[in-house]
Parts: sequence; structure tokens; C-alpha cells
Amino acid sequence: MIELLTETAIQEPQRIRGLEMPWNRVMGSTEGAAGAARALGPWHPQEFMAECVETVPEAGGMMTFVFRRCDGAPLAFRAGQYVNVAFPLNGEDQDPVDRSYSLSSSPTQPWTFNITVKSDPAGLVSPWVHENVKPGTVLEMLGPVGAFHLPDADRRARYLLLAAGAGITPIMSMLRTIHSLPGQADVVVLYHGAEVGGFAFHQELAYVASVDSRIKVFYSLGDRSVPEGWEGLTGRLTAAMLDEVAPDANGRQVYACGPEGYLNTATELLRKVGVDDTSIYMEFFSGDRQTILEYQAELAFAVDIAEEIAEEIADSAEDYYESQPTAFGLYEPGYDAEGTLKATGLPLETADEDAPASEAPEGNPTVATEAGSPDASSFDTVGTGSLTLSFMRTGINVRIDPDEHILGVAQRAGVRIGANCKEGMCGSCKVVKLSGEVEMNHQGGIRAREISAGKFLPCCSTARTDLVIDA
Ligand code: FES
Repeated sequence: MIELLTETAIQEPQRIRGLEMPWNRVMGSTEGAAGAARALGPWHPQEFMAECVETVPEAGGMMTFVFRRCDGAPLAFRAGQYVNVAFPLNGEDQDPVDRSYSLSSSPTQPWTFNITVKSDPAGLVSPWVHENVKPGTVLEMLGPVGAFHLPDADRRARYLLLAAGAGITPIMSMLRTIHSLPGQADVVVLYHGAEVGGFAFHQELAYVASVDSRIKVFYSLGDRSVPEGWEGLTGRLTAAMLDEVAPDANGRQVYACGPEGYLNTATELLRKVGVDDTSIYMEFFSGDRQTILEYQAELAFAVDIAEEIAEEIADSAEDYYESQPTAFGLYEPGYDAEGTLKATGLPLETADEDAPASEAPEGNPTVATEAGSPDASSFDTVGTGSLTLSFMRTGINVRIDPDEHILGVAQRAGVRIGANCKEGMCGSCKVVKLSGEVEMNHQGGIRAREISAGKFLPCCSTARTDLVIDA
């Protein structure tokens, strides 16, 4: 015991040079985006559903919302990126309001992820979020998105992280990431706040700075009056302040996040102290028109990538599933030696040729009239049941009874539809219905606007009429 109380000099840990993100080698060792995505989980922007599991009040009127993906996958992102969240402000039947929020957690702990939201009483969304998002709330998200993030590998890893107000959230993700990894790094954080009690995460920042010799944190109280006992810096950002916290600023990579005015000043001052433009990365949090336009452009691009990658991953997932033994109970696409489809589970009864043909489905006019588009009446028909599902991409008709769930029947017939929860929650089985009626009992895995756009979740739906499906 006595030994514990004795002050002994503890040596610094020995570390590898620089800083490397854990996924970096995986990225390099896999071929193409789909390979990396399979190894890492969904690395590229995706649309997914996430459930809030915890809310943590933070200083400065902020609240951290901890989420996990409904499909059970980790969220692969880079420290500094953000997600776009659809909030059903006006009820489930109206279009949601989308907002982008930086991820404040570290991607090295990807099973849950955090967004931290500052409540602006004059704002439309943030007060609603504070009031309504609780453990159990399921929201639709798109992400990760954003070019403002730490590099995957940096042999020098010397950073100056500048944050003002709510701009601390992506910086917090960066700091948590660096703290959680081995590797030499040298980090200076300068955090501007308006009042003493308004510095979010200050307890964690103090702790990290006290146990990790790579990290130094400085606070400044902006231009407000300074209470007695304040030990931090005072005043707005100046060249002298930069010089005080990081005399070697021009040898560091600078990441800055905050309101537009703060970042404009920072840009000027950083140039003044000799930081090269190529070493400055900024994220505007002002919501000004230009920023909104940039976010919109980034998101539109992310949607395209999400769709492209989803297809690529689906293809690579098929290869993966095909290589698994059926004993694992994985869905096995049904192909025969010639590569044509055969049913794998449904009683393989060929439809009685003399039986009255199932009514030709009222196809979507585009499907019916497009030159070269397939004609469902020429497809093979398998299974038994009083209704017919026509799968236009797979090229098969499947008979089904009105009380059977569509997903199970479709998969047993060899139709490829991804699925995870099978309870209408995760949205991963979502497909487009080209015609017909279904009865769906979902649990938040699909949004009203998606339903109006013709999508449905086959895992929790039964057929009411003959259906034509884009799968
Ligand atoms: S499998 Fe999750 S919603 Fe259908």
C-alpha cells in the first residue's frame, strides 16, 4: 500500500511512429470498395435506420444522442464526418425535415455512434430533437458524409484543433479517436466558448488531457466578462493566442470548426502565423446559404454513391452467400448449373398449364411499355397459392397465399432480397412495388414518403392482390 502512495516517475509509453487508423490496412488489402465494405461494414454513405439508445445532457445547452444501427451493423466513418438525419417533425405521414449533424463519437468504437445537438430556442429542429428523441426512437439516416476528417494515416500526426461553441462536436470525435489509438501524435486543442459553464465535454477533455501526454487542451472565454478564478485564456482568437498555445502552428495540420465569422478570422490568422493553406481544413457550422448549398451537394452525391455501392455490395454479398454452406442457414440464391434460376425451398410444382392464368398484373406503364422490358407472362411460375407475385428483375412468378409473408416465400423461391431484422424495423428488405396491393405491419423501417413512392417491406407484408415487384 505504501508503495501506491509513493510518487514514482512513470515513463512515457513507447509508440509507433505517427498515427494510423485501424481500418487503413484493411482498405489497402482489399480490392475495390465492395471488398473493403465487406471487410469493414458499410464504409460508404448508406441510408439506414438507427435507434436511439441513450441521451446524455452536455454543458452549453447541448445533448448527446447515442444511436445504434437497427440492422446490427457497425457504422464505419472517419473522425469528423457527419450524418444526415430525417426528423418526423410533422408526424409520420408528412415529409420529414432533414438536418446534418457531426458525429461526436470515435469511429474506433463503431457499434454505437453519437451526434451532439445544441438546442437553439429560435430554431425549428433542435428544440424538437431535444424534446422528442429518446431511447427507443428510430430515425432514418444517410451517411457518413463529409470531407472534413482526420487522414487514415499520418506519419507526423501533429494537429492544432480549433473549435468554437458547437464546433467542438467533430473535434471531439477526432480527439477521442486519437486518444483511443496507439501511435505518436501531438495535439493542441483551442476551444472558444461564451461562458464558463458552456464548454461541452469539459470533464472528458480535462480527463483526456490529464492522462494522455499527447494532448493539450486550452480554453478561451471569448469576449465576455471573465469571472474570478477563471484560469483559461480570455478573448477572441488572435495571432498572439495562436502563438501562445501552438508556437509551431505552421508545422501542424489545422482542423477548425465553428461559426463563419470565427473561421474567417481563423483563416486570416493562421496565414499570418505561417500556416500553409494546404494544411487548413474547415467545417462551417453557421448554416449560411453557401454552407447549406455545399451540404446539399455533398448529400446528393452521397445518395448516388449509396445507391451505387449498395448494388456493388449486394453483388459481392451474393458471392459471399453462395460460398457459404447451406448448413449455416443463410439464404441461398437458387441457380442451377446453367446459371438459370430454380426454386430452392418452395414445392417446385410447375403451374398447371390448363388452369386459368393468373390475371395479368396491372404493370407500371413504364415497365409495360419500355422497349425490351421483360414480360411477366413469359416467366416460369413456381409454388402454390391463390395470388401471383411477379419478380421483374429475377424473372419469375411465385404463387403465394394471402396469409404468407412475402419475404420468406420470395427468398425460398430464389429471389434475392436482403434482410436483417425480419420484423419491419431495419428497412434492409425494402423493395419497390410496381403494381398491386400489400398489407404491411412495419415497426418504423419505412417512411411514409417511401410508401407513397411505392416501396414496401416484404418481411412484414402479405399480398392482397397479385403483385409486380422490382426485385
Ligand atoms: S428485414 Fe428488417 S425491415 Fe424487413
